[in-house]
Amino acid sequence: MSFRTQPPAPARPNRCQLFGPGSRPELFEKMAASEADVINLDLEDSVGPDDKETARRNVIAASHDVGWGNKYLSVRINGLDGPHWYRDVVDLLEKGSERIDQIMIPKAGNAADIYAVDALVSSIEAATGRKKRLSFEVIIETAAGIAHAEEIAAASPRLQAMSLGAADFAASMGMQTTGIGGTQENYYMYHEGQKYWSDPWHWVQAKIVAVCRTHGVLPVDGPFGDFSDDEGFLAQARRSATLGMVGKWAIHPKQVALANSVFTPSEEAVAEAREIIAAMEAAKAAGQGATTYKGKLIDIASIKQAEVIVKQAEMIARK
Ligand code: COA
Ligand code: MG
Repeated sequence: MSFRTQPPAPARPNRCQLFGPGSRPELFEKMAASEADVINLDLEDSVGPDDKETARRNVIAASHDVGWGNKYLSVRINGLDGPHWYRDVVDLLEKGSERIDQIMIPKAGNAADIYAVDALVSSIEAATGRKKRLSFEVIIETAAGIAHAEEIAAASPRLQAMSLGAADFAASMGMQTTGIGGTQENYYMYHEGQKYWSDPWHWVQAKIVAVCRTHGVLPVDGPFGDFSDDEGFLAQARRSATLGMVGKWAIHPKQVALANSVFTPSEEAVAEAREIIAAMEAAKAAGQGATTYKGKLIDIASIKQAEVIVKQAEMIARK
């Protein structure tokens, strides 16, 4: 074990982040009534250029008027390369209610991007006397973002979550794809007359998980565009969960239950994890560092693996 131990990520469920355009306020009550853990009101790319100011006003009004219950409420601001983001931050903090928990910074490219927003937010918080400290989440969706993912993860104590944005990422990387996430037709191995599809997102996700775990940030899988394809969504979400991600975005309400089903440990998985921990406790009491469970080796590391599942289930149950 390194002398520097791994910090825990924020202990709140983040199984599903439901998005909706800030320019469609008729969706807000429906979003609040959903089963998503996190709500993302969008001011960025789902809002057309002519609707930016209306969307901002809608979101500010909804922060006061809509009953968001126990949702973690996040607003996606516009990108740092354009004219809208500073006004998003200033107005959300000066005119929005303290119900806003978090802002999402899209297309984060390096630690200085996060520093710039942090400086502005900190100054407004000091000036307004806002009591709740705003948290940040970022999207890794550019070549620079993934190249600098670790410095971004370490950039601010406000940072709670980091998502992969597959569509912008693919565009920035020059990938020959059009769909938003999931299986890509031309990404296959060929062996003895058969195609075997591989996962072009794997390395990016694994890198995001590693930098997040190093710095105590929640790693999240972003959007899956084809909301008619439940099996495709589930396959993508299961791969993400297997790699250590804690949740996935929903860009349509029907994806919420799918994400929750994948990122909530099943009763069987929790029961098995508890049995593994009990078997190892018995082994330790007998002076052994390893034993067998259902015919397989388990050892001290198995306790830690099982604890990931048990702790996640307990945290969700406390919600
Ligand atoms: N949140 C909550 N409810 C939503 C919703 C959302 N994001 N999107 C649609 N609904 C509601 C609709 O109002 C409708 O409700 P009703 O049954 O009471 O009439 C129901 O869900 C079915 O909606 P549907 O007709 O299938 O969708 P749509 O054509 O109205 O909208 C999208 C489809 C994809 C345009 C819309 O879901 C959307 O804007 N998603 C979010 C996009 C986004 O924020 N992108 C940025 C991140 S990538
Ligand atoms: Mg994007």
